[in-house]
Amino acid sequence: MVGLGPRKPPSRKGSMADVPKDLLQTIQHLESIFTVDTSKLTEITDHFVKELEKGLTKEGGSIPMIPTWCMGFPTGDETGTFLALDMGGTNLRVCEIHLPEAKGEFEIIQSKYRMPEELKSGTAEELWGYVADCLQQFVDYHHEGKKPDALPLGFTFSYPATQDYIDHGVLQRWTKGFDIDGVEGKDVVPPFEAALKERGVPIKLSALINDTTGTLIASAYTDPRMRIGCIFGTGCNAAYMEKCGSIPKIDHMNLPADMPMAINCEWGAFDNEHVVLPRTKYDVIIDKESPRPGQQSFEKMIAGLYLGEVFRLVLVDLHSDPAAHLFEGQDITKLKKAYTMDASFLATIEEDPFENLSETADLFQNKLGLRLNKPELELCRRLAELIGTRAARLSACGVAAICKKQGWKEAHVGADGSVFNKYPHFKARGAQALREIFDWAKSQKDLIEILPAEDGSGVGAALIAALTLKRVEEGNHAGIRDPQGLLEGTGHHAKK
Ligand code: GLC
Repeated sequence: MVGLGPRKPPSRKGSMADVPKDLLQTIQHLESIFTVDTSKLTEITDHFVKELEKGLTKEGGSIPMIPTWCMGFPTGDETGTFLALDMGGTNLRVCEIHLPEAKGEFEIIQSKYRMPEELKSGTAEELWGYVADCLQQFVDYHHEGKKPDALPLGFTFSYPATQDYIDHGVLQRWTKGFDIDGVEGKDVVPPFEAALKERGVPIKLSALINDTTGTLIASAYTDPRMRIGCIFGTGCNAAYMEKCGSIPKIDHMNLPADMPMAINCEWGAFDNEHVVLPRTKYDVIIDKESPRPGQQSFEKMIAGLYLGEVFRLVLVDLHSDPAAHLFEGQDITKLKKAYTMDASFLATIEEDPFENLSETADLFQNKLGLRLNKPELELCRRLAELIGTRAARLSACGVAAICKKQGWKEAHVGADGSVFNKYPHFKARGAQALREIFDWAKSQKDLIEILPAEDGSGVGAALIAALTLKRVEEGNHAGIRDPQGLLEGTGHHAKK
C-alpha cells in the first residue's frame, strides 16, 4: 500500500520489504552501532553513579558537580517582583515575575530576543553589550518614566560556571557551540554588571543560575515530589539537591551536614575519557570538528545541537561508499555543509505520517535538493529513529544514575528543552529505558517519572533570587560574598 494516510510509529519492519539487500545490510549495520541495549544502559548507569560521586570529591572528576549556593526548595510563600534573564543557546529571554501572596502562584511578563548567530563567536564586549541592551529595552518599556528600585535579577547563564558565591560564576568553558574569546576562566558577573552600569540600567544581580537549577526549583514550587531538574535541549544537563555533608569538596566550609545545596551536575561532560559510551565514528568526528574537542562527550551524543549533525555525517559517509548506493549520481553539495540540519529535521522525518514517506521526500527535496527513492527514504527514517532513540535512552541513564546514587526509588523529574518538548517519542523512549534500567515489573507503574517542568529560567530564576534574598535577610550567608551589598537598593533588609 502506498500513500494511504497516517500510520503508527515506531516499527517500519513491514515497509522494509522492498529495500534492496545491500541497503538492508547498511540499515542493519546502522542498527548495530546506534542501538543501546539494556545491558549497556545498566553498565553506563553504574559508571555514571561513580562519576557523579567522583565529581563531588576534592580531587574531582570529569563531571563538574558544581555547588550552586541555591540552598533549599521554595515553600510557596515567596513574594516580590523579580527580573529574570535567560541566556540560553538560541534565544535571550527577559521576564518580570511577580510572586504574589497566594501560595505557589506567579504572574509573568516576558520578551524574547534572538541570539544573533555571529554573537556566538564574537567578542565578550559585544556579548555583554547585546545582553545589557536587551535588558535596558525591557526595563525602559515596562517601567517607562519611573525609576524603579534596583530590581533583583536572577540571571540564568546555562554554561558550566564555578560558583564560589551565588552572584559569581567563573566560566569553565563554553559549551553548545559558543566560542567567545576572553570569557572562559573569568567571572562573568563583573563585565555583565559593567555593561548595565554603563547604560544606567537599574538592575541588581542577586543570583547567577544554571537552567537546570532553575528548572528544579520552579518544578518543586508546584510539585513537592520533584527531585531533579533536567534540560534536554540544545544542550543536556541536570541539577538535584544534595546534602552539604555529602559534598567533600566544600568540607572546608564547615556547613551543617544536612543543609541542602543544589548541584549543577554539568553531566554533558560524562565520559570525556571514553570508557563506557558506545561512540560511533560519527560521534568522534563531531567532537573533533567542534570548537572544544574532548569536552561534553555525553552531550555530543544526545543534545539537540548535535542530533541533525550525526544524521548528516552518516548520510555523507554512506554516499561516499559505492557499496551503499545512496543518492547515486546526485549533487550532495548542500548535504556537505556542517550543521545544516537541526534536530527539527529529524523530528519531521520521524513524524512523517505517510506510508510512502512523502513529507520526508519533500523535506530532502526542498532543503537539500535531493530526490530520494523509496528505499533511501526508508533508510533515512530508520536512521532518524535510531539517533532519536539513542539520545532518549542515553539521557535516561543520567536520570537513573542520580536516583541510584541518592537511593531514590521514586521520584518526579522536571524536564524542559526543545528535544524533550518537541522531539517525537522522546518521553516514551526515555521512560522505556528507565523501566529496563530499574527492571520494574510489568504491572508496576513508572516509579521515576520524567515530566514537563515549570518555567525554570523565568519562574525558577525569580524564585532563586527570592530565596537568596530571604536567606541573607535571615542571616544565612553561606556562598554570599557581600550580604549587605546584595540587599542594597532592592527594598529587602536584614532582619534584626
Ligand atoms: C550545556 C551547558 C549546561 C546547560 C545545558 C542545557 O550542557 O553546559 O550548563 O545546563 O547545556 O542548557
